[in-house]
Amino acid sequence: MIPQSFIHDLLTRVNIIDAIDRHVSLKKAGANYVACCPFHSEKTPSFTVSPVKQFYHCFGCGAHGNAISFLIEYRGIGFVEAVKELAFSIGLQVPEPQPDTRISHSGTANAHHDTDSSLHDLLEIMRAATQFYREQLKQSDKAVDYLKKRGLSGKTAARFALGYAPDDWHSLYALFPDYNTEKTGKKLVHAGLVVSGESGKRYDRFRDRIMFPILNQKGQIIAFGGRIIEEGEPKYLNSPETRLFVKGQEIYNLFLARKAIRDAGYVIVVEGYMDVVALSQYGIDNAVATLGTAITGVHIQKLLRQTDKIVFCFDGDNAGKKAAWRALENSLDQLTDGKTIHFLFLPDGEDPDSFVRKNGKETFEYQITLAIPLTEFLLQTLSCGQNLQTSENRARLIYDAKPLLQRIKAPALMLMLLKRLSELSALNQNELATLLQIKQTTTSVRVPVSSPRKQPASPYRWLLLLLLYNPKFFRDLENETLVLENDHNEELAALKYLVEFLNDHPNIVENTQTVAVSILSYLQDNPYRALLEKIESEILEWNDEMDLEAEFSGAVKKLQEMQRKKRMKELHNKPLSSLTDEEKRELQRLTMH
Ligand code: UTP
Ligand code: MN
Repeated sequence: MIPQSFIHDLLTRVNIIDAIDRHVSLKKAGANYVACCPFHSEKTPSFTVSPVKQFYHCFGCGAHGNAISFLIEYRGIGFVEAVKELAFSIGLQVPEPQPDTRISHSGTANAHHDTDSSLHDLLEIMRAATQFYREQLKQSDKAVDYLKKRGLSGKTAARFALGYAPDDWHSLYALFPDYNTEKTGKKLVHAGLVVSGESGKRYDRFRDRIMFPILNQKGQIIAFGGRIIEEGEPKYLNSPETRLFVKGQEIYNLFLARKAIRDAGYVIVVEGYMDVVALSQYGIDNAVATLGTAITGVHIQKLLRQTDKIVFCFDGDNAGKKAAWRALENSLDQLTDGKTIHFLFLPDGEDPDSFVRKNGKETFEYQITLAIPLTEFLLQTLSCGQNLQTSENRARLIYDAKPLLQRIKAPALMLMLLKRLSELSALNQNELATLLQIKQTTTSVRVPVSSPRKQPASPYRWLLLLLLYNPKFFRDLENETLVLENDHNEELAALKYLVEFLNDHPNIVENTQTVAVSILSYLQDNPYRALLEKIESEILEWNDEMDLEAEFSGAVKKLQEMQRKKRMKELHNKPLSSLTDEEKRELQRLTMH
């Protein structure tokens, strides 16, 4: 873990304008800088960077963060790497991160986690093993023949660092001579390369298999998939979950494919390792695969950070359709209007590997252009096989669509779906929206303009905005004003949360006073993040002449006024005869106000 104080130093010394401008060229616009957003495709710039508060915000896709998060998102690198890169750019030395001993995985992870194998040790073991297996491949005619038979060149095998685990229970002895010592033996078990049998005897997990190294997003080898040569069970044996490897989150080839994804403008998601490798052999390098698991929301999130367009490629059979439907369900929450997801179904019995070998690159790429958009796939599947001439079937369609549509947050996409659904169901859009209990928000994309600033809609929001701009105001915020309310209100909850945080971290308040750092940099994981980011973005519309003190007292007044009205309403709602003398006086006071 890198110490928080270093992160703070870094954020105060780096200028976000320079940090971003190195990758995306920024133009000055009023007090801010703007560019076309690198995180979604657009033609007019809505990506805005604040030099005053050192954050960026995209009014189109909502991307929001500081210099570190920009690098993480833009380059698809990890936190530590982003910190290192930024530090390097201004000549700061990063303190060596301590291995984070807090990481632990539940579930099927191998049972020996209570240990001393550092992440560094494990990564080093994986790296050495990859080299070893590659050497073994070169020496095995059988393995080389198999790969040749599958149409792979030496170059492709090298690109994916493919290897071969010999047909031997202890081939890793050759690489780790102290395999049998307690210390090294345990580490090999923790790395997932060695199995500790019932009698305590250790042996290689992977034997007589083609080895596919699995890299994380930083390019480190964290696991292997091992394919049996020819026939046998299991066809693929994968590393167990280890401290390095959480299966449901990793994506095969995402590291290597990054540049190709950027160049092509989309990512192809296939089902198998061999599909990825074969596509690359044919010059298609923007393909990735999950590791034999269903596609999860985490996968989709990771991919949508790299690109605006995902094309899922599935077999045309029933299993493929099912897997595709699951991917669709897991995509719904992740959709935004700048992003698209398409589905391509290959002819029955074909996978991308066999298809590209039979038909070549051009035909495969042509197929990609024919992939159907998510909304089409959704409606097709829902209405599939039903005769929509009958009212009952149309009602059924609405009934099935409801839970799915309710999860979509992208306004334009929702509108399109309602339109299509309205055609199919012979109901108008308003009837539909009512039936589906969907709030039709027509949130248009907002581009900052220097028109006179509107006051935020609620006093809570106004106060949040001021606190984000300058946290020192929290001291003048009497608790009286916040505790009174007990209705459920996210803005109020966020305000309370923020005030509590500031109370607990007086030094952060001091720090953000004197330098331009967004307080949200210290609040990375909080339940109100999306709301706070949105509110912070309103700072971009401020100008220098803002009278903060006046704004603050204005906000407090508005809050008090709101509370006064509420209390009056409460008292008015009681029959006059039941009011106590105390309450009567209060009512009088409130009315006079
Ligand atoms: P496939 O059976 O479609 O494999 O499984 P494939 O990639 O086309 O392999 P070839 O062409 O037969 O060599 C798809 C993915 O499911 C996972 C692997 O990640 C595989 O790439 N899988 C499959 C396993 O994890 N274990 C298995 O036993 C089979
Ligand atoms: Mn295959």
